[in-house]
Amino acid sequence: MLIQNSIKYSVFWKTLCVLWKARKMPLIDSYNRTIDYLRVSVTDRCNFRCVYCMPEEGAPVAPKESILTYEEIERLVKIAVSLGMTKVRLTGGEPLVRKDIELLMQKIGAIPGLRDLSITTNGMLLERYAESFAKSGLNRVNVSLDTLQQDRFIRIARRGNLDEVLKGIDAASRFGLTPIKINCVVMRGYNEDEVVDFAKLTLEKEWDIRFIELMPINWSSGDDSPITSLMSSFFPVDIKPAAKNIIQLFADTDSLSFRKNFHLSSANEQTGQLDASQMRNAFVPTSESRANIEHRFGILEPAEIITNGPARSYRIPGAKGTISFISQLTNDICVNCNRLRLTADGQLRPCLMADGEVDLRSSLRSRASDGEIASLFELTVRHKPFEHRLEDGNAPVGRNMSQLGG
Ligand code: GTP
Ligand code: 5AD
Ligand code: SF4
Repeated sequence: MLIQNSIKYSVFWKTLCVLWKARKMPLIDSYNRTIDYLRVSVTDRCNFRCVYCMPEEGAPVAPKESILTYEEIERLVKIAVSLGMTKVRLTGGEPLVRKDIELLMQKIGAIPGLRDLSITTNGMLLERYAESFAKSGLNRVNVSLDTLQQDRFIRIARRGNLDEVLKGIDAASRFGLTPIKINCVVMRGYNEDEVVDFAKLTLEKEWDIRFIELMPINWSSGDDSPITSLMSSFFPVDIKPAAKNIIQLFADTDSLSFRKNFHLSSANEQTGQLDASQMRNAFVPTSESRANIEHRFGILEPAEIITNGPARSYRIPGAKGTISFISQLTNDICVNCNRLRLTADGQLRPCLMADGEVDLRSSLRSRASDGEIASLFELTVRHKPFEHRLEDGNAPVGRNMSQLGG
């Protein structure tokens, strides 16, 4: 009896040890944030030319051979999941313009261990793919939509059309790709007067309408002054003097794999995208959008909705849907950051707003083992900066938003 019990006891402990070793430890960065969300840009191409994101002509596109294949993306996502990442979002450019995108969705949707598979799209081709995506395991969509008026749509996105996007959103809703989140970048002189119209939609629709502050990603030419000068017009506070180019966002390291200040050539040689002074003039702080909504509908109440990201959510009392704000400049969103970004050309970035990257593509193509690639994920997490420090003069210029996936 005693022997039997001690055998059972040791089997129990051995099993426990095996399970302990096999468990997925989440990736934790140097500031104790759990990094469990991977944004995967599948292409830098797009069928729109939004004024804040891409030039009208001559948009930068990476050579085809530098773009990761679906097999390569699948392998990287599997490695990320083995490291405890549980949420994946496909982004672009516009992800749906990539050929046979439904095949990638099938591959990613079949990876065990993923809890949340989502996509950010401009909606133009969504009607075509919604059903097959839902069958492949896509959970939900975020759709970019900056205006509810066709003439403005053409002024902002410069391609595509509003009706197709609305049909895409309907299709997503029919096939259960919910909650549906609508991303509206608010810009003075373009759509700031539509904030109330967008908010009104939430009375009847179960959408989450998110008002986004314009972000200074590669604000190319025309105004070299740091973002501080923009922020000081909203905050009557002492802001530290600008220190462009000497901001140390990344921890010191002797790792050759982590390339600081990575800059993709040609990103600055474009025309037809708003330049920095135009972007500054178009910037609308969240406080202003919120005040306009509250002036019309009364005080917003906090809404408890599931979010993995930078949005803060509210509800018009009694409304079916919700209203969120993504305030990169006027609020502290970095403190809860949980993500890494994989670019379409296979570079892993710890931060949207910091030009540092690790080259996974070269490792993939030189037959690195899964373990070696996993260690590059860990290295990237170790280099995740605490915050973007735009107010201190940091200015991300390495890539366009279309090359980063938002
Ligand atoms: P959810 O998982 O639905 O919360 O998505 P999300 O808001 O993280 O993703 P989405 O692609 O819809 O992005 C919405 C806005 O948030 C876009 O303007 C993005 O550029 C911005 N955004 C996403 N991730 C980050 C980030 O890490 N830092 C900053 N500053 N902005 C981000
Ligand atoms: N500032 C804020 N949001 C932006 N997006 C693209 N460029 C910018 C910018 N400069 C948004 C798009 C899309 C999401 C991925 O990022 O509208 O919804
Ligand atoms: Fe395309 Fe999105 Fe950039 Fe608009 S914001 S041009 S839809 S990638």
